Parts: sequence; structure tokens; C-alpha cells
Amino acid sequence: MKKTLDLAGKKAVVFGVATDKSIGWSIAKALNDNGCRIALGYQERAEPYVKELAKELKEPFLAQCDMVADEFIENFFEKLDKGFGKVDVIIHSVAFAKKDFLQGKYYNIERRAYNTAQEVSAYSLPAVIKAAVKWNLLNGNGSILTLTYLGSEKAVQNYNVMGVCKAALESSVRYLALDLGEKGIRVNAISAGPIATMAASGITGFEGILKHAADKAPLKRNISAEDVANLALFLCSDLSKNITGQVVYVDAGYSIIGL
Ligand SMILES: NC(=O)c1ccc[n+]([C@@H]2O[C@H](COP(=O)([O-])OP(=O)(O)OC[C@H]3O[C@@H](n4cnc5c(N)ncnc54)[C@H](O)[C@@H]3O)[C@@H](O)[C@H]2O)c1
Repeated sequence: MKKTLDLAGKKAVVFGVATDKSIGWSIAKALNDNGCRIALGYQERAEPYVKELAKELKEPFLAQCDMVADEFIENFFEKLDKGFGKVDVIIHSVAFAKKDFLQGKYYNIERRAYNTAQEVSAYSLPAVIKAAVKWNLLNGNGSILTLTYLGSEKAVQNYNVMGVCKAALESSVRYLALDLGEKGIRVNAISAGPIATMAASGITGFEGILKHAADKAPLKRNISAEDVANLALFLCSDLSKNITGQVVYVDAGYSIIGL
């Protein structure tokens, strides 16, 4: 049988759409354009924007889902169960750390800020999978994706606590891939180069990071959210059916450079 990127008849939940610049939004649109029905789980404050954006999707399902507490995640899946049904794809494109701790010395991190950053940015991945399994909402042979950044494995100025969260997230990807492999469900992370989004604007000196990445990358340019969405399409399709537990880079080659 010829395998393609066609996702006709599949269903996806996308967490992490807040603006039209969100990486999650580019992925949601790409999945939808390729036949996948989309449910969006978003923060309360993003609701007005998400409702407007969702007009571009075919038959979307919308519900709030804040990652700060298990009960919010549980409520989301209860609604998903009633209004959308089982899913083949989960896109986790969520991260948060207080701006105060995305600058200066990492060791100044406060306990509470550290815990919140980890809960929202890393713990939320196993948490949504736990809820999806509990509600029996995950179809076999599906694909789960999260978003990460090079700051997980290299020290990147000002990325600080978020780098530590991304390290936990990437490790979670490997354990979750092991957990879900027997159901044929794959779990991978996309490590994206810098893109100007709302989350990125919280990182002190982000403009400099963008410029540096374009100057140093082998391809001498920045990437776009659409580049990430293209990789997400591949990782959600049967074309990647034997790829799991991986961190796949889309960064114009920046991460291979030593000097
Ligand atoms: N923009 C980049 O340069 C870049 C590079 C690599 C990886 N990433 C990752 O991509 C993902 C998406 O970020 P983005 O750049 O599209 O920015 P974004 O600000 O558009 O998306 C971040 C999302 O996280 C959501 N979020 C924050 N706190 C939340 C909470 N408590 N509960 C539920 N949702 C919450 C926001 O509502 C938003 O939708 C993040 O994991 C980010 O770390 C971004």
C-alpha cells in the first residue's frame, strides 16, 4: 500500500494555540488541511483569539484546558469524550516560565517558579496522556508530539529554567514512547530553531538569538512555524511509523555546529 501524508478520517487534539503566530496553530492548520479533524485545548485568556482562529478550521472542537491543575486537564478530557471522541494525534505545544527567570543567573530561580515552569512545560505531557488513557480516548497506532528547544542539552544564555524543563520533557518523551509502544502509539519531540512567538518574546535578548541562529546555521536562515508544521505532518503520518522516542531537529542545521 502506498503511504502518504494523508490524515483523512484522523482526529487530533492540539494544546498550545494562543495567537496566529503559535507553532501549535501552524500545526493545527496543517493537520486540518490534510484531512485531520481538530480539537483545541487552550488557556482561558486565549479564548477570544482561539475562537476567531478556529473559524479557519473544518468542524473544530474547542474547550479550555489550563495545565496548572489536574482537575482542569480532567475536565477537558471529560468534554472531549462527550463532544469529540477518540483521537489519533496529540500535539503538546505548551510552555511557561516567569519572564523574571528567563534572564540573568539561572541559580536565582525560586522554588515556586521552578515548580510552576516544570508543571506547565514538562509534567503536562504525561498528565494529558494519563487523562487520555483514563478516558480511553487514544486510538492505537497514533502519534504524540511535543515541542522542545536546543537549550535542553546546551546552555543557552537566558533560557535558564526553560532549558531544564525541556531536558525533563525530552526524557519524558523516551519513557512515554516506551509506555505506549505496545499500543503502536509513537511519542516524539520536535526541536525547533527560534521563531518569534508570544512565548519567545518572554526570553530576554530573543532578537539576538534569532540573528545569531541565522548567521551560524549551515543554511544561513531562520526557520518558520510552517517548517515545524511540515515535520509534524510527517511525524503524525504513517510515513514515520517506526520513529518513536526521538528528538527531531528542524533548525536550519544550527545544532550540528561546534565552532
Ligand atoms: N518559539 C520558539 O522559538 C520555540 C522554539 C522551540 C520550541 N518552542 C516551543 O514551542 C511550544 C509553543 O510555543 P510558541 O513558541 O508557539 O509560543 P506560544 O506562546 O504561541 O505558545 C505557548 C502556548 O503555551 C500555552 N500555555 C502557557 N501556559 C499554559 C498553561 N498554564 N496551561 C495551558 N497552556 C499554557 C499558551 O497559552 C500558548 O498557547 C513551546 O513548548 C515552546 O517552548 C518554541
